[in-house]
Amino acid sequence: AAQWKGLIETYRSYLPVSDTTPVVTLLEGNTPLIPVPYISEQVGRGVKVFVKYDGLNPTGSFKDRGMTMAISKAKELGAQAVICASTGNTSASAAAYAKRAGMRAFVMIPDGYVALGKLAQALLYGAEVIAIDGNFDEALRIVRQLSENYPVTLVNSVNPYRLEGQKTAAFEVVDALGNAPDWLCVPVGNAGNITAYWMGFCEYHQQKYCDRLPKMMGFQAAGSAPLVAGKPILHPETLATAIRIGNPANWEKAIAVKEASLGAFNSVTDEDILDAYQILAAHEGIFCEPASAASVAGLLKLKDEVPSHGTVVCVLTGNGLKDPDSAIRVSNNAVKSVIPDLAVVAELMGF
Ligand code: F0G
Repeated sequence: AAQWKGLIETYRSYLPVSDTTPVVTLLEGNTPLIPVPYISEQVGRGVKVFVKYDGLNPTGSFKDRGMTMAISKAKELGAQAVICASTGNTSASAAAYAKRAGMRAFVMIPDGYVALGKLAQALLYGAEVIAIDGNFDEALRIVRQLSENYPVTLVNSVNPYRLEGQKTAAFEVVDALGNAPDWLCVPVGNAGNITAYWMGFCEYHQQKYCDRLPKMMGFQAAGSAPLVAGKPILHPETLATAIRIGNPANWEKAIAVKEASLGAFNSVTDEDILDAYQILAAHEGIFCEPASAASVAGLLKLKDEVPSHGTVVCVLTGNGLKDPDSAIRVSNNAVKSVIPDLAVVAELMGF
């Protein structure tokens, strides 16, 4: 098979690029759509569940789909620096792509609420990391203003090129299934991803690559669920720090997606999220980060509403390696240390 050339080359005719756009790519995209038989069984009634494992992108999250576009366009327009607010994944992705493009990368994070792997990435990629004693929403407000007043391009999902790149995940889902699923379950923070998926499904539907559209099911953590509450949350809380967001940047778009797709926003508790996180790892062999497991937690919560024999895709937005602290804390498992002796080890193993 021909080598995968990244999502801009693959979906060029659907993207706002020209022959002169400098393509900044790490060959993101082309992530697997993995069947999850144990979870399918839990849902029951012949429902088939798949996960779109976008944690297998080059920096370990779906953000790379948007960032290849945002950074390529920033470079085309002559930018020398980019900036984002981030709960961690956007900062890692922005740093990687900006550095590859020879730009400065400024990232603003909520101090103490970014998972260790994400911080490690941003630092090693060479981003200029600024932590504030405040949450994501406050950081976004500041970086928006910085980008309006100084020569630095904003690469949060309010940058339209981000959504253009991210919509390719929906193309891949349809290409893999041969149609759109009945439900698309996705964790929601700023609601950029749910908006982008919907754009992708609608474009493919128009091209007749699918003959239906999915219900878009967005899930927020209970302590950070503004779209469920119908109003911004001033002090969002959840251990799924990636989606610890109280005032989604794409609020109106999210509501439009919900209405057009006959979908819904629901909340899942941190306990539900951690249960799904553990089920994915211990029953399916799939390691995602806690925020990503909100999609599966949501499906399990609403499983009786899925049409019998339907198809559901849950988006796993980030890799589990991003957040080793959560994994170790939640695993309820521990390393057993022994002396290097055959008999002692065999006894420990129960033989
Ligand atoms: N899942 C993960 C792992 C994320 O990192 C994010 C967002 C989301 C889901 C939600 O996506 O914002 O498009 O609704 N992370 C952003 C960041 C906020 O800074 O990395 P969304």
